[in-house]
Amino acid sequence: MSWSLRRAGVADLDAIMELEHTVFVNDAWSADMMRAELSSPHGYYLVATEVDADDATLAGYGGLFAPSRSDDADIQTIAVAAHARGRGLGRLLMQALIEQARQQDVAQVFLEVRADNPVAIALYRSLGFEELGVRPGYYQPDDVDAIVMRLTVQPRPPMPAHGQSPLDQTDQHPGSIA
Ligand SMILES: CC(C)(COP(=O)(O)OP(=O)(O)OC[C@H]1O[C@@H](n2cnc3c(N)ncnc32)[C@H](O)[C@@H]1OP(=O)(O)O)[C@@H](O)C(=O)NCCC(=O)NCCS
Repeated sequence: MSWSLRRAGVADLDAIMELEHTVFVNDAWSADMMRAELSSPHGYYLVATEVDADDATLAGYGGLFAPSRSDDADIQTIAVAAHARGRGLGRLLMQALIEQARQQDVAQVFLEVRADNPVAIALYRSLGFEELGVRPGYYQPDDVDAIVMRLTVQPRPPMPAHGQSPLDQTDQHPGSIA
């Protein structure tokens, strides 16, 4: 099964909101909140569709909030349509958002997850997120706690010196300059 990911924009608002209401029900964001996210200069949203699907129905989406020059970023949301779950799309979206954070030299990525969501918690743990604490009753009206999680982002490898390929560089002795 393969997935196609692309950067989302305000033109995707209606499709995202349809999935948002289906997936999050009581916790769904309003269209105004989502529009603000999609149009924010600090937002990075992706939408996913199934390659070779008969239609272009969204299979999932996810978003990162990463202010420029900040060390910290947040996974704002991630959702996979029920029919598409368990086939690697959630992990793919998360990895793409984390990679974007790495490209922006973010040091730490934070997120909040409902304490009664073991599937998402397992996904985040498997990606290296650790639990920092609990926000009691954060999700209303369901009165469910939020678990705050943090990922320490591995920095990008240093760029090779001008005129040097990465392979050449690994052949150099430490500290040598081409
Ligand atoms: C959480 C969610 C995004 C995962 O998406 P997905 O495409 O089903 O996830 P993947 O197929 O990529 O699986 C990734 C990991 O999630 C966990 N997972 C997935 N399905 C699971 C299940 N039925 N039971 C337990 N863990 C499960 C596993 O850790 C899995 O890793 P593995 O395949 O190596 O075992 C999806 O279930 C979803 O949209 N849920 C509703 C919205 C939501 O909870 N969003 C998160 C808000 S914080």
